[in-house]
Order: sequence, then C-alpha cells, then structure tokens
Amino acid sequence: MIETIQWTDDGVVMIDQTRLPNEEIFITCRTSDEVAHAIRTMVIRGAPAIGVAAAMGIALGMQQPDADIESICDTLSKTRPTAVNLFWAIDRMKKLHRSLAGRSAADMRAALAAEAQQIRLEDIAINRAIGQHGASLVPDHKTVLTHCNAGALATAGYGTALGVIRAAVEQGKQIDVFADETRPFLQGSRLTVWELLHDNIPTTLITDNMAGHFLKSGRIGCVVVGADRIAANGDVANKIGTYSVAVLAKENGVPFYVAAPTSTLDLTLASGDSIPIEERASLEVTHYSGTSVAPRGTVARHPAFDVTPNRYVTAIVTEKGIARAPYEQSLAGMLG
Ligand code: MRU
Repeated sequence: MIETIQWTDDGVVMIDQTRLPNEEIFITCRTSDEVAHAIRTMVIRGAPAIGVAAAMGIALGMQQPDADIESICDTLSKTRPTAVNLFWAIDRMKKLHRSLAGRSAADMRAALAAEAQQIRLEDIAINRAIGQHGASLVPDHKTVLTHCNAGALATAGYGTALGVIRAAVEQGKQIDVFADETRPFLQGSRLTVWELLHDNIPTTLITDNMAGHFLKSGRIGCVVVGADRIAANGDVANKIGTYSVAVLAKENGVPFYVAAPTSTLDLTLASGDSIPIEERASLEVTHYSGTSVAPRGTVARHPAFDVTPNRYVTAIVTEKGIARAPYEQSLAGMLG
C-alpha cells in the first residue's frame, strides 16, 4: 500500500506528490509551519489527505513548549480554501484541545498526537466503507472514467473514487479505467495512472478534452470522482474540469457518481455558489515543470476547482451509504 502520510518519531513523513511519478521521495516535516508549507505547495494534496496533514501539523506544533494552538490553526487554515476537510480536522483538534483543559502538557501532547493518528486510521476505514457501497454502482465489463486523483495519494490510503474502483476490482468486476490527465497540475496523469498501474488495474490516460468523445462512444459505464466540498443541496466542488465531465456524462446518459467521506459535507452552505474557489498561480497554466507552454506575457487564469450543480450528480457515495436526490434530505440524513 502507498503510504501517503505517517506520524513518526522524527516528524510527519509524506510522499512528495510534486515529484511523482518520476521520483518517489519522502519528506519529513518537523514543524507545523513545514506541514502548512507542504499543503500550500501541493507536496500533499487531496481533500482528506489535507485534513489528515492539518491534524498532524497541529499535533506536531503542539509538541513544542509554549505552542499556541490558535496561531498554529490560523496558519494551517490559510493554506488552501476549498477542501472543507482542512477546516473539519482543525475543528476536531481544537475541540479535543479544549476538552483537555487542566491536564498536564505531556498528557495534552500525547492526546493530540494520538488523535491525529486516529484521524488517519479512520480515513482509511472510511474509504474502505465508501468502496464497499460504491462498488455496487460500477457496471461490470465497462470502463470507469475518473478526473483528478481521488486515490490513496489524496487520502490516508485506498482512496475515495479510486477506492470505489479498487473495491469493484476486489469484488471480481472486469473493469478498466480512463483517467483524465487533469490540466494544469496533471494529478490524473502523474498520480492516478501511477497509483492504478501500481495496483495492476488496467488504465488508459486521456487528455481532458477527449472525455466527451469517449463518453459518447458507449464504452464508459460510469464516471466516479471525489469532492473537496459538498453543499447541503448536493452541489459538488471538485477539481477544475469536473463540471464539464458531469455535463457530458448527463448528455450521454452515463451515471456520474461522487465518492467522498461525510467530512467533505458542508451543510452550513445551502448551495455550491458560496463554496470558496481557490485561484492558483497562472504560472501553473503557462508553464509545466519550468518549461513555458505559452508565449511570454500570456495572461492565464487558474481556478483550481469548479462546482458541479446537483442536477448532474446521479448519487453521492459516503461511508454511511449512497445518497440520491433530493440531496437536502439524503445528505442531512448521513450526518444525523
Ligand atoms: O488540488 P488538489 O489536487 O488538492 O485537488 C484534489 C481534488 O480535487 C480531488 O478530487 C478531491 O480532493 C477529492 S480527493 C479524495
């Protein structure tokens, strides 16, 4: 199994996802600021993995004498705005810290470290449960299309969307995967293909603009993607380009499934209109790996996520089961 992130005696160890697939390098963060930097620079990315990293960053920062949890959490909360799992993890760690008032510093440090490791273990178990629920939706002898990387690398292990695919394969379904390359950061080609080849799951890389062509062809049995934040009405924020895939899926009668833990639900937001969308550097669009792919001086935009309206979402798979429209009721029931 790929170890995305681990708590060790030396610090928080992560595989550097900016170096994949060419180099498998692990980095060790020894301070909460180093964890924040790793999240900001995409060394670790993917909503659930960001949540686990934040929890470990808080636990790590609090090992220092005179550490201030508010300032640690403030720095971590400003790393990336869209994935709600970041804020979910920060809230959970803060709540635990409050409940430890009056206990010795040593007890508090041990409890925060244990909680962060527990969040990591829970995430893997949650992904396995999502996989079990979602596998029933995957048609046999068909191709599954996915966008971005919602795999082991985007979580503590196993993955959400790729967890559904892994579970379907474990159940003996004869499926293969089409992975969108996912411009501009190439999470699909660099990470999803790397992960699935590692597991010997037959995978074909396509560029993002090929998705419509293949969705029309009849070979795609379903689309499965992850999510960064899901509003109360079932609108889904996920990697830029997801919305286009969802519209094309509906146009061609292909089911579009979202796989995410309940920690990705943000029922405080009535719709996806108020989900904050991260705008990343335009350099990530005009350049790849230091090489320019556009004329010097090109103006480029880089929203890192888009919001897919609920009408394009056939079902949302969480660890609690499968939610369908009307999502206001079904999603509220998942947290109830
Ligand atoms: O910018 P990223 O790579 O963090 O974006 C990741 C995604 O959009 C994933 O699809 C999402 O976080 C779900 S990961 C299980």
